[in-house]
Amino acid sequence: MPLSVESIEELKISPSMEGVLPAIHHRWSPRAFEDRDVTAADLVKIFEAARWAPSAYNDQPWRFLIARRGSPTHQKIVSALIPFNQLWAPKAPVLILGVARTRFSHDNSENASALFDLGAATALLTVQAAALGLATHQMGGFDHEAARKALEIPNDYLFGTITAVGYRDAPATLATERLIEHEVAPRTRRPLEEIVLSSWGVPAHLG
Ligand SMILES: Cc1cc2nc3c(=O)[nH]c(=O)nc-3n(C[C@H](O)[C@H](O)[C@H](O)COP(=O)(O)O)c2cc1C
Repeated sequence: MPLSVESIEELKISPSMEGVLPAIHHRWSPRAFEDRDVTAADLVKIFEAARWAPSAYNDQPWRFLIARRGSPTHQKIVSALIPFNQLWAPKAPVLILGVARTRFSHDNSENASALFDLGAATALLTVQAAALGLATHQMGGFDHEAARKALEIPNDYLFGTITAVGYRDAPATLATERLIEHEVAPRTRRPLEEIVLSSWGVPAHLG
């Protein structure tokens, strides 16, 4: 029997731990999107969350290009995607391209943290979206130079990800078997012992 949106949700959300924000447990990256629009009020909230991210020198190097389905900008973003992402992402009602300025505003010196800061802002955006019941899926699979040309992005900006935003749909609505398999596969993570260390190679004992 094909999996419904509700049953796939149970499969995908991470095991909850008391004290961890529910939106963190509920965020995951689907590829099946409903044909339902995102309200302007919700978009304002997700960008507000991104806006308050920390950044080096508080430079806030991130800029977000937002495109609704049917707009010329949406078409330009879709045309820069790799073929795999073109199989599913065009159905999302909103696509957001994140870019970061590589020079600090205060002295025009190189900002080596620009992409790191864009990543932090994008992470907050995805968690805020999850808190609003919205699905997000970031993509690094696109042709940066094609996007730069089509969207007239200045050369001193680096590309982060394109984030699809919308509402989850049933896996069966996806175009290929491979996409459906990905959609229903369990999510995995490295254990804390592998990623949190007390000295190099030694897992930290957190109590
Ligand atoms: C920088 C970055 C690039 C990604 N690129 C793609 C992509 O091009 N296509 C895609 O389908 N998913 C892409 N993803 C989604 C990841 O595969 C996904 O976040 C990861 O498997 C973890 O799953 P989860 O987000 O459901 O926890 C990308 C995610 C990030 C953060």
